[in-house]
Amino acid sequence: MTDQKQRKAVKLSDYEPPAFEVETVDLHFQLTEDCARVRTRMHLHRADGVDLHEPLHLHGEALELEALYLDGQPLAMDDFLLTRQGLSIERVPDRFELEVHTLLRPQDNTSLSGLYRSGGNFCTQCEAEGFRRITYFPDRPDVLSRFTTTIEADRQRYPVLLSNGDLVDSGDAGEGRHWVKWVDPWPKPSYLFALVAGDLHCHQDTYRTRSGRDVQLEFYVEHENANRTGHAMESLKKAMRWDEDTYGLEYDLDTYMVVAVGDFNMGAMENKGLNIFNTQYVLASPETATDADFEAVEAVIGHEYFHNYTGNRVTCRDWFQLSLKEGLTVFREQQFSEDMGSPAVQRIQQVRLLRSAQFPEDASPMAHPVRPESYVEINNFYTATVYIKGAEVIRMYHTLLGDAVFRQGVKRYLERFDGQAVTIEDFRQTLAETGGRDLGQFGRWYSQTGTPRVRVRDEFDPARGRYTLHISQSCPPTPDQAEKKPFHIPVAVGLLGRDGQALSLRLSGESVAEGTTRVLELTGSEQQFTFEGLAERPVPSLLRGFSAPVILEYDYDDDDLAFLLAHDNDPFARWEAGQQLALRVILRRVQGQASPNDSRQVIQAFQQVLEAPDLDPSLAAEALALPQEAYLAQHMDPADPVAIRAAREALRTELAQALASQWRDTYRRYRPEGPWRLDADHIAGRRLANLALGYLGATGAAEDNGLVQQQYHRADNMTDSLAALALLADREDEAAVTALDDFYQRWRQTPLVLDKWFRVQAMSRHPRVVERVQALVQHPDFDLRNPNRVRAVIGAFAQGNPAAFHDDSGTGYRLLAAHVIRLDAINPQVAARMALPLSKWQRYDASRQKMMKNELQRIADAPSLSNDVYEVVSRSLE
Ligand code: ARG
Ligand code: ZN
Repeated sequence: MTDQKQRKAVKLSDYEPPAFEVETVDLHFQLTEDCARVRTRMHLHRADGVDLHEPLHLHGEALELEALYLDGQPLAMDDFLLTRQGLSIERVPDRFELEVHTLLRPQDNTSLSGLYRSGGNFCTQCEAEGFRRITYFPDRPDVLSRFTTTIEADRQRYPVLLSNGDLVDSGDAGEGRHWVKWVDPWPKPSYLFALVAGDLHCHQDTYRTRSGRDVQLEFYVEHENANRTGHAMESLKKAMRWDEDTYGLEYDLDTYMVVAVGDFNMGAMENKGLNIFNTQYVLASPETATDADFEAVEAVIGHEYFHNYTGNRVTCRDWFQLSLKEGLTVFREQQFSEDMGSPAVQRIQQVRLLRSAQFPEDASPMAHPVRPESYVEINNFYTATVYIKGAEVIRMYHTLLGDAVFRQGVKRYLERFDGQAVTIEDFRQTLAETGGRDLGQFGRWYSQTGTPRVRVRDEFDPARGRYTLHISQSCPPTPDQAEKKPFHIPVAVGLLGRDGQALSLRLSGESVAEGTTRVLELTGSEQQFTFEGLAERPVPSLLRGFSAPVILEYDYDDDDLAFLLAHDNDPFARWEAGQQLALRVILRRVQGQASPNDSRQVIQAFQQVLEAPDLDPSLAAEALALPQEAYLAQHMDPADPVAIRAAREALRTELAQALASQWRDTYRRYRPEGPWRLDADHIAGRRLANLALGYLGATGAAEDNGLVQQQYHRADNMTDSLAALALLADREDEAAVTALDDFYQRWRQTPLVLDKWFRVQAMSRHPRVVERVQALVQHPDFDLRNPNRVRAVIGAFAQGNPAAFHDDSGTGYRLLAAHVIRLDAINPQVAARMALPLSKWQRYDASRQKMMKNELQRIADAPSLSNDVYEVVSRSLE
């Protein structure tokens, strides 16, 4: 291994408060075509109780230090120590001014961390540790300072110059250059700093807060995207209103700016007053964006806006606390999406994502608690566990405390810790105190890794009308922890009578029955809960609303599942029953144990959903979609993605053929009439019609194939166009070639849409998809420097097309490893993410394991590997 020191892990247990505080930072940027010069002047003081001899440490990376002054005096080379990680000064006064001059090269910064260029403009990404690539600074979230930023650049090339806070001054700098000055009144950690310089179109609007203040809203995009910001603007206004109405939180600056950039490592960033977004989550127009894209824009706009309190006003003490802001903000984002649309559909989609992205992570060598205990590279911990399992943990607080107490607790937390950098414990204690509850055991959700199993057994005593649930829990060992202690798990249950009615529930010891859903609190490794007053044995509806991020085990028979799918009054549990039924049938088929009766039962159940008199089209579309391959694979050991694909496709074909006339009816009936609209009816109609079209694409009938082609060529919106294109991309015929070519010609100049063209091909079920992907990475429009394009090809293939990626030949693995190595030299953050599918090798058979480990080893052996990729491959091979 190269340079052992560089690979040192940072540990939570080593946390020390900062030795120096920075009161103010005054930044001056001089931007030119070949470099940027940054002059930083800051006022520091020694923190209370810190020893006089404690040296000053500043982080700094990929910087050229040009000058350093302490209280106005230039420091000589032997007054300080300079390393690749930063700078230390041995002796400093208690209070002093430090001025640092650095030179950087944003033009060559392909890591997209720090100051870099995207599409001819300058922009920044500082979370988690990008600010140290701009200047020497204590770049840690618990150092909060007041920032002033002056930017000087060529006026013609960069008419727009932005930073955090309020624009206070501007002027001419001579030689065709101009300058502006921004002041951010709110103290903030360096990770929330942002700067943008460019030639950008601005879409302006205003928002009046509930206290009557007018806030300027500004979206900055490249000129060709000027007409695609309307939806993001509306979403922002909705989010601002929602946070006032739901949490009583009002925006705290006069301007809220969002800039969209085409080169971005993640989704978006909540910099104070100046969010920077991946174009993917800002731009949307009916011709270019699908309904799902529109929804994602609304969700991410909401997410970053909600960070203004949960993240910015109250931030994290250290990066181990990342879920303090991310779990809570994802949960708030989820609540917002539920309120803007259908709560049940949202919940189903959240659980699908948790199961396909987080469960596998929790069962892999990369598994870590929601609050990790060590890391080599923090960027590797912006994970499904920290974000979405973190949000599930917040949801459980909400379930245990109830909505009113939860909201009161969050408000109290935000008031108590306003302007501070705090911990997950601070949040938990505030909520426990507000609810008057002991949530001590609940803390294990933050410290223990792995997905708990909850096993339910039941018994009915007809003589006494008593029904008892025996509920037990366990959690499998993970690489970091062999033994787990019991979790505090809210298990929401309901009981259905044989007529399908939800029963009123009375637990032992209660005098009256109340409600049809009860939250049982499982805290021991095994407990029982008895319901009284039942005339007959009920059918249990368990883990309603997915009340905890666990794997539920209960021996339903197929008839029970069909019954629940038809009758359960909890929409999530109803959907879940259908999924479990389909899952079993597919797995039996994989094992060669399918009986003809199996498919008949699924066909019948699906037919019932389709013909239900009260059909809700968007819920039906969820119920009629078969479980995802990634989820199916979790129920097979070792997993065989090729066999799973074959079995799932076979069932799909049977459903397609058996219900062909129903699919055709559904398609005709629900496909919205008239011009495109983005309202709930039209969205739901398109969703169900496109699901039906998906089945029709599998009937094999010429008339249905024709329908797919027709939809592609006639569509007036991207949802319909892409749905048809994806079906065509699975085929090998002339029509498929024509459509793909047409789409390319039409959209080759529109990067976000061209990403879709790459993605449908990388994810296609085409028999020679691996060859196709090999061609796609040679395509002139493929570019390793653009993360969206990399995700659209490499990510879509390795994560979204398991049967192809795990092709027996091992070609998929080799292709991935080769690109991880090449990409690591360009963008380590994205490279490390792309490598993750290989980390899951334990799940597969011996031959695949061997090939996957070989590729991991090949990556590990590559020269000058980044910390990011090193951490992923070394943990995977441990
Ligand atoms: N805080 C951002 C969000 O979730 C994510 C930025 C993370 N960026 C990174 N390079 N790790 O809203
Ligand atoms: Zn976030």
